[in-house]
Amino acid sequence: MENKPLTVKGDYKFRKFREEDLLRVVEINRLCLPENYSPFFFLELHKSYPETFIVAEYENNIVGYVMVRVETGFSDFHRFKITRKGHIVSIAVIPEHRLKGVGLTLMLTTLKNMVQYYRCQETYLEVRVSNTSAINLYRKLGYRQIRIIPHYYLDGEDALLMSRELKPSEEIFRV
Ligand SMILES: CC(C)(COP(=O)(O)OP(=O)(O)OC[C@H]1O[C@@H](n2cnc3c(N)ncnc32)[C@H](O)[C@@H]1OP(=O)(O)O)[C@@H](O)C(=O)NCCC(=O)NCCS
Repeated sequence: MENKPLTVKGDYKFRKFREEDLLRVVEINRLCLPENYSPFFFLELHKSYPETFIVAEYENNIVGYVMVRVETGFSDFHRFKITRKGHIVSIAVIPEHRLKGVGLTLMLTTLKNMVQYYRCQETYLEVRVSNTSAINLYRKLGYRQIRIIPHYYLDGEDALLMSRELKPSEEIFRV
């Protein structure tokens, strides 16, 4: 049951992360992003939010992942409202498999599950101001810039905080 893909798009299968995927996901994270985490951190997120930690497979090899933490905090859209948010902690697709819709389907799958399993009403993320590919991906998914966080990254680069409301009825989640 656990092996069943959640979504299939062309040659790519999208399924929930399993513990045996850990080394490959850590490897992809180190290859693709300067923000790296300990293996323990990945496992903790998986243990807490298994439905929104998704991997993409091509010919039985993992080529991308997305992982999420569910948080409670002030709404980015309604003053003083406390809301449940899906925080996109990390997403990456290896260079050979980019621009084929893998990042988009990873995001759509995790967004759908954050609504369905964790009843998230909003989703947000931080992204480097220079990361045009990722910013375009998030805009395409309906995220909008809320504010700039100065010097958010260790090397001093600013982050955009981007956020989006989530409604269970949205067409976009029918992946
Ligand atoms: C960001 C990333 C995950 C996108 O993955 P991907 O599989 O290539 O993305 P997709 O093919 O699904 O693209 C979806 C949309 O994203 C945008 N996009 C993706 N790559 C882009 C690029 N190189 N230039 C411009 N827009 C781009 C486009 O809007 C695209 O839609 P379109 O094909 O209709 O134009 C990938 O580039 C990556 O792993 N980058 C390194 C890690 C990273 O920056 N992660 C985000 C940290 S916040």
